[in-house]
Amino acid sequence: MVTSKTLDYGQPSLQGTIRIPGDKSVSHRSIMFGSIAEGTTTVEGFLQSDDCLSTIDCFSKLGVEITVDGEYVRIESNGIQAWNEPNEVLYTGNSGTTTRLMLGILAGSPISSVLIGDESIQKRPMKRVTNPLKQMGAKLIGRENGQYTPIAVEGTSLQSIHYKMPVASAQVKSAILLAALNAEGETVVEEIETSRDHTEKMLQHFGASVSVEDRTIRLQGGQKLTGTHVVVPGDISSAAFFLAAGAIVPNTKLTLTNVGLNPTRTGIVDVLQAMGAKLCINDSENNSHEQMGTIEIETSEVTGTEIGGDLIPRLIDEIPIIALLATQAVGKTVIKNAEELKVKETNRIDAVVNELKKLGANITATDDGMIIEGPTSLHGGELKTYGDHRIGMMAAIAALITSSAVTIDNPECISVSYPNFFEQLDSVVLASL
Ligand code: S3P
Repeated sequence: MVTSKTLDYGQPSLQGTIRIPGDKSVSHRSIMFGSIAEGTTTVEGFLQSDDCLSTIDCFSKLGVEITVDGEYVRIESNGIQAWNEPNEVLYTGNSGTTTRLMLGILAGSPISSVLIGDESIQKRPMKRVTNPLKQMGAKLIGRENGQYTPIAVEGTSLQSIHYKMPVASAQVKSAILLAALNAEGETVVEEIETSRDHTEKMLQHFGASVSVEDRTIRLQGGQKLTGTHVVVPGDISSAAFFLAAGAIVPNTKLTLTNVGLNPTRTGIVDVLQAMGAKLCINDSENNSHEQMGTIEIETSEVTGTEIGGDLIPRLIDEIPIIALLATQAVGKTVIKNAEELKVKETNRIDAVVNELKKLGANITATDDGMIIEGPTSLHGGELKTYGDHRIGMMAAIAALITSSAVTIDNPECISVSYPNFFEQLDSVVLASL
């Protein structure tokens, strides 16, 4: 195991094209939906990252036949009724999406199982999912009354629910909708802000009927899913690191292809545009049930901006890299209404603020976000990842503009979402001036 990595790029520029690897959220769902569906599902562009492999591992333990060949996955299932009761615990690793969506799926299945995750997952709140599921009749037992894993699930018959979500969370929405597939009656979920809608889109792609009106989603229970072909677009949350790098590294021009452009995920593009970044989008690529395309970005003079409200769920995972971008922007950037950052893989408000401060950034934590004053010249330092992939990648991109080397602990955590991150980064770094 590599314990640290020192990044010393000198004063590089970036040039070239990167094909963005598969979207993590869509990859997880392709395995879940393919396992619930009857028949064969084939997946193209699958993200072979640690998190998505955790999802495959869990469904394999239920007896679903899943074969992985690079970015291509084949799933053979006879539907949920044919699943085996697993004789070992289901290990969800570092993945909140695997843990929360599986709780919804398993709650209405015919089997009993136990879910457990890594150290980070063991601290992440699960009541946001177990509470509504219990209201549907789910039999769940977990630490602190269902707040933390390990959680035991005894599959049972469920009732529909009308649920007003207290937080903007696609994981909560998806867990309820997946449980609702096996519940009696019509389930209605009302969101407080629109969160990513990959579940709704994929339900339709697998043949289910879902109605979405503003922020209200309706799903009739008892619908069967049928195996199909899924094309996974590239992950805009991964592209975000190269979008920010493209804007702040001097003499740079990058072309990012295969980027997922689902409007519930493109908050980063809105922010870059509001900050004055020079970017150009071509969204004509479309062989997926999700929107996708190419983004070109070049070195830009960026200015501070305000980020909050309904923009937050559209860029929640991009806030660490946006904070780094803001250190190079002229003026103040305020990020607010982002308290959800405290319950991600680590507390991302504290992690981002602590680590960017070590490099000389003028950044202050607030109760629901952070305030950054720019521009500041950053220097090198020893940064912690907190085992959080997005903090690790933020630190690596920072190293492109620091006056001296940046060392990061635990660079391997990046493989949770972006296993070939350093390879792709190295492929566009031009020799130091
Ligand atoms: C995800 C939803 C978001 C996001 C996470 C993936 C999903 O989490 O941060 O990386 O795939 O549904 P929340 O639902 O907690 O906002």
